[in-house]
Amino acid sequence: LLTLPARRHFLFSAAAEFHDGGIQLRFVPAACLRQGMVNGKDLWGQGGLLLLRQGHIITDTHIARIVSLGYFGVYIADNLSKDIEIEGVIDDNLRQRTSHAIKNIFIQSEKTGNPQALDVPALKRIAEELVDNILSHQHLMVNMIDLKIFDDYTFVHSVNVAVLAVVLGIALDMGKDELTKLCLGGLLHDIGKVFIPKHILNKNGRLTAEEFSVIQAHSEQGYKYLKNNWEIPVTAQNAVLYHHEKYNGTGYPEQKKAGDISLFGRILGIADVYDALVSERPYRKALLPSEAIEYLLGNAGSHFDPDLVRLFVRKVAPYPLGTCVTLSTGQNAIVVENYENFCTRPKVKIIDDSPEDTFIRLADDYSAQNITITAIANI
Ligand SMILES: [Fe+2]
Repeated sequence: LLTLPARRHFLFSAAAEFHDGGIQLRFVPAACLRQGMVNGKDLWGQGGLLLLRQGHIITDTHIARIVSLGYFGVYIADNLSKDIEIEGVIDDNLRQRTSHAIKNIFIQSEKTGNPQALDVPALKRIAEELVDNILSHQHLMVNMIDLKIFDDYTFVHSVNVAVLAVVLGIALDMGKDELTKLCLGGLLHDIGKVFIPKHILNKNGRLTAEEFSVIQAHSEQGYKYLKNNWEIPVTAQNAVLYHHEKYNGTGYPEQKKAGDISLFGRILGIADVYDALVSERPYRKALLPSEAIEYLLGNAGSHFDPDLVRLFVRKVAPYPLGTCVTLSTGQNAIVVENYENFCTRPKVKIIDDSPEDTFIRLADDYSAQNITITAIANI
């Protein structure tokens, strides 16, 4: 075990004013929130509405609202969080603007059905801005809970898929032009859903086989729609067409296999499933990031390109920073650092009453070889 002094440095000046020594937060799932906790990060709602300001004390009314809106949880500033420095892979404001822009594009497409009406230059500018932003944070692993603070599923999901795809594209050493095209594909991957009847798309109960095939048509419909606008890059069009193909040929619409599925299509397939799994849906609870990573690994080679899954798990943290976990020793700890090469073995800080901070580097502390993370702690 290592006992180290607490690290402190500034990441953003605005937050430094709020909390001495930089952004120091931990993520608390919605079910574990308690009255009196201090909100650590502005919480935005639908349509750019500020729901809860950074620094505000959380009340039971706030908690009820956070739960009813389906939030994954919020960032809290407290004693436990004093060594956790959270920096998102994209800026909150940019994420929010992108989500609104995508929403407008979906509304416009549904209203007109005319691909020529798409403002592609504006969309490309957004994609470029996203790519620049992610490139400037490329040293970070993705903390997926960072991407979960808005409640408008389809549009937030589109942004998340684009972000995850670009992260994977960067890991593949793609240039900026390629990344921008990949980002466009991610942002538009589900555009075909605007042509699916709402009563089927939003149905809460079990879908009939016929309804299921109507929904499955969205990838082809999206492709046909975008194909009629020459400003959309062909690789992005194909990514939309192939984002539900599976590596073993059991996907749709063309049952393509392995390398016959375009690279962008294989990338979007992973990003799409990962984000869907860690999102709360009306018909099922969200999976934990660690569970979603297990799912990807379990289906690598059958549903997903195994080489891409291997890269993905280096970049997306199964135990995001600020997650409270229980160790096999029975102790609770908080994740303070992640390592690309040892994604399930982060550095953690033990939560106890001792005045000294105790850190364990699960990846390489010799004395920690037998210690495992057994659960997400409810504290
Ligand atoms: Fe889709």
